[in-house]
Amino acid sequence: MSLKISESILDTIGETPLVRLQKVIRSSPLASSLSHHQFFGKIEYFNPGGSVKDRIALAMIAAAEKRGELKAGGTIVEATAGNTGLGLALVAAVKGYKCIFVLPAKMSEEKRALLRAYGAKVVITPTGVEPENPLSHYSVAKKIATSLKEKTGNCFYANQYHNMDNMQLHYDVTGPEIWKQTKGEMDMFIAGVGTGGTLSGVAKYLKEQNKDIKIICTDPVGSILYDLFYHGKIVDPPGAYMVEGVGEDMLPDNCKLKLYDDFIKVTDQEAFQLTRKLATEEGLCVGPSSALILAGAMNYAAKVKKPSRIVVMMPDSGKSYLSKVFNDQWMVDNNLEKVETIKSAFNVEVMAEKELKNY
Ligand SMILES: Cc1ncc(COP(=O)(O)O)c(C=O)c1O
Repeated sequence: MSLKISESILDTIGETPLVRLQKVIRSSPLASSLSHHQFFGKIEYFNPGGSVKDRIALAMIAAAEKRGELKAGGTIVEATAGNTGLGLALVAAVKGYKCIFVLPAKMSEEKRALLRAYGAKVVITPTGVEPENPLSHYSVAKKIATSLKEKTGNCFYANQYHNMDNMQLHYDVTGPEIWKQTKGEMDMFIAGVGTGGTLSGVAKYLKEQNKDIKIICTDPVGSILYDLFYHGKIVDPPGAYMVEGVGEDMLPDNCKLKLYDDFIKVTDQEAFQLTRKLATEEGLCVGPSSALILAGAMNYAAKVKKPSRIVVMMPDSGKSYLSKVFNDQWMVDNNLEKVETIKSAFNVEVMAEKELKNY
């Protein structure tokens, strides 16, 4: 860790730790097929906004300023699952811009409150509407941005799905960072795809260093990307799933399927249960998409004979999902965990008077 004083919080974005995953691998039902591999988590919640998206927020704003699209006092508009909004909001706070974010109703209340804490305006759209629908979060954000651009001439629509500054940042920064941390001794990189920026940018860089590094995408059941990769068209229509930040119902420009070697599908149940294990067994309170990616990594690696060093992207923090994955009742209500399993856990609240009788 660097001990220098930062000029602003923006200087602390990036250079996140790469942490060896141990107990969670040994306690997996697949443990005997995984013992010849090493798994490393790239822990992105060390970024000041709590996710990998701080990286692209800084890069997209810097590029927009350079192009003259965003000038002092301007407004940033984005359709975001929350994390990109947080990144943009903190960069905007430091640089003095206003922000309007449009997000689907399924996104957690913690994420919405945090966006508002940074001074942003939050607009909520219905969950599960098609991208072309005028009420989708993409359409609403676009409409607001177009109208503001016409009226003020100083509005930047970040457009993370199709803005190629996103993938470029991961090619310029995240890829080299991982390569340096592993000293080039790695065999596989696994991430999910929201916009595709992380996986595509990192993949492009790593493949240029060593074309044999395997690039794997973990996709939630319900996303269309797996079908597009294997069949070139949508076979199963997009379905609902609860993991936030990954999976798609359209193909973003930043998702370069040609750079990926393989896809693996993971269910909500697998992802949410593993999220809880990552916290209790590794001390890593990460979000469900991190566990989804790790579950995909373990399922994939169990079939790989060659001992491999596997880097697993862990995009954000579990603190944004306390009311969901770390809420026992929510897990049971959503059929993600059985009551008996939850009951055996230690994480129950007890009033001191009652507890003291045991001591
Ligand atoms: C919460 C979250 N945000 C972002 C990402 C990655 O995003 P992108 O494909 O947009 O780079 C992921 C993917 O793993 C994610 O889980």
